[in-house]
Amino acid sequence: MGKHCPACNQLHYYPRPHCPFCGHRETQWRQLSGKGHVYSHSIVERSPRPMAPAIIELEEGIRLHSVVTDADVYALEIGEAVTLRFLPTQDGPPVPGFTTVRAEHARAYGDHARQLLKSAPSPLIDALDQVAVIGSGHMGVGISLAFLQAGLKVQLIDQAQEALDGAQQRIQETLDQELSKGRLDQETRNQRLARLAVSTDLSSIGKAGLVVEAVWEDMALKRELFARIDAHAHPDAILATNTSTLDVGEIAQATQRPGAVVGLHFFNPAHVMRLIEIVRTPLTSARTLQAAQAVASRIGKTGIVVGICDGFVGNRLMIVRERQAGRLLLEGALPHQIDRFLREFGLPMGTFELQDMAGGIALMHRSRQRRGERDWLIQQLFESGRLGMRAGRGFYRYEAGKRRPIVDPEVTVLIEEASRQEGLKRRPIGDEELHDRLILPMINEGAKLISEGIVDRASDIDLVWQLGYGWPQWKGGPMYYADQLGARQIVNRLEALQARHGEMFKPADLLVELAASGGRLTAPAP
Ligand SMILES: NC(=O)c1ccc[n+]([C@@H]2O[C@H](COP(=O)([O-])OP(=O)(O)OC[C@H]3O[C@@H](n4cnc5c(N)ncnc54)[C@H](O)[C@@H]3O)[C@@H](O)[C@H]2O)c1
Repeated sequence: MGKHCPACNQLHYYPRPHCPFCGHRETQWRQLSGKGHVYSHSIVERSPRPMAPAIIELEEGIRLHSVVTDADVYALEIGEAVTLRFLPTQDGPPVPGFTTVRAEHARAYGDHARQLLKSAPSPLIDALDQVAVIGSGHMGVGISLAFLQAGLKVQLIDQAQEALDGAQQRIQETLDQELSKGRLDQETRNQRLARLAVSTDLSSIGKAGLVVEAVWEDMALKRELFARIDAHAHPDAILATNTSTLDVGEIAQATQRPGAVVGLHFFNPAHVMRLIEIVRTPLTSARTLQAAQAVASRIGKTGIVVGICDGFVGNRLMIVRERQAGRLLLEGALPHQIDRFLREFGLPMGTFELQDMAGGIALMHRSRQRRGERDWLIQQLFESGRLGMRAGRGFYRYEAGKRRPIVDPEVTVLIEEASRQEGLKRRPIGDEELHDRLILPMINEGAKLISEGIVDRASDIDLVWQLGYGWPQWKGGPMYYADQLGARQIVNRLEALQARHGEMFKPADLLVELAASGGRLTAPAP
């Protein structure tokens, strides 16, 4: 809304009753288009949602002080088209602000991508009442909570009674926290707890319509367990594994019903994260796949069907990015520089902040050891007890009880020494190189996933990254972003990187084809 002065015929956005131009006392509200462009802007750093205080020039010619939000504010251009967007406030009515038209297009694309996922109904899941979760560790607890939240009965099974005791306590604590925050009433909390049963006896799972395994990541263990699950589970039950890295097909082969086996790759924390990668094997039946998709919807999550490959979809893109991030440290970048770039790119967190939060240094150390690889830097960080945020020290240091990463000169010294050990002369690395080294390999890997048939469509990759890794809706996803850059440009830049750094940057065949044909990875929203 704007105000119109009938005396001087000027439009304005002045809150007082009189006209700011001629002083006339009677101005009238008039509906405005809500469309305009950015006249000038600045940026609020580290805002929880992207925020650029801006002067917006409306189509009607009025300039007003407002904000551009939920958009790529670091890439905002003077003259960029914007449109009205209301911002929620904590206790009052929403306040008007603006978002870019580019961001609106990306959101429309994401909405369309979600519609493409709609699955057929599954009578099996409609009738589902009881679920068995095997393994009461970190993921088992989150998965159980997810099912309890959806009103299902959960049988939580573990080989160790102490693990079950701990799990029961964590489930109760989580429900109590929800209660104290007012997100749950006492009766619902009690009902959820009453629907949870724990046991060390695997033979008690016969009434469950779905069994989800979440034990240690070990193929021999999972195969042995699936053979036993197969013997005790209801003949119609769906058998799922939460494995992050193992071949679900090989696990399925340990049963007499490989058609009923599927991967349900939950993200951590499983009761909060909305994504499930549904991993199909060549033998997974249509009924099982349909049931897996229906389970995801029944518990309020988005299930995206993926094929078997190392890291599935989400982690496969993450792994190529992490590899480059580690390499860039040795060549001259520092963790806070890479993390700042990724945040400004639009991701909720940088890669090293994320590692510190998730205990990544210990995980990386163990996986390097398993593969017999030597990584001096990770070993030093691990051995000096820099295990991440909880330890108060990781790639950054942390003040007691605070989550804000602080640059630690001790880590800088270690990184510089690591470069020396690798015989690398450190050099300044700019944002453009960070962009190409960190983002283009993700796009390249995504293109390979499409050609390998791991995903049904490019937009599934984007949804995985939106829901599982916080890629902002206003930037679509890595594949959508790739189409904004254009395949030709991506291939040119990858080829330049390949010439300098080697085969890992070789452009995917699909990108080369699209560069030649002028085609796109994603289908535009109708
Ligand atoms: N932690 C994550 O972020 C994450 C995310 C997605 C998937 N996953 C996958 O989930 C699975 C579990 O991971 P986690 O982090 O919860 O592990 P965890 O170590 O926290 O828990 C594993 C539990 O399995 C139990 N267990 C082991 N063998 C068993 C058996 N034969 N029968 C019954 N219980 C048994 C253990 O006692 C333990 O309580 C792994 O396959 C992992 O790759 C983990």
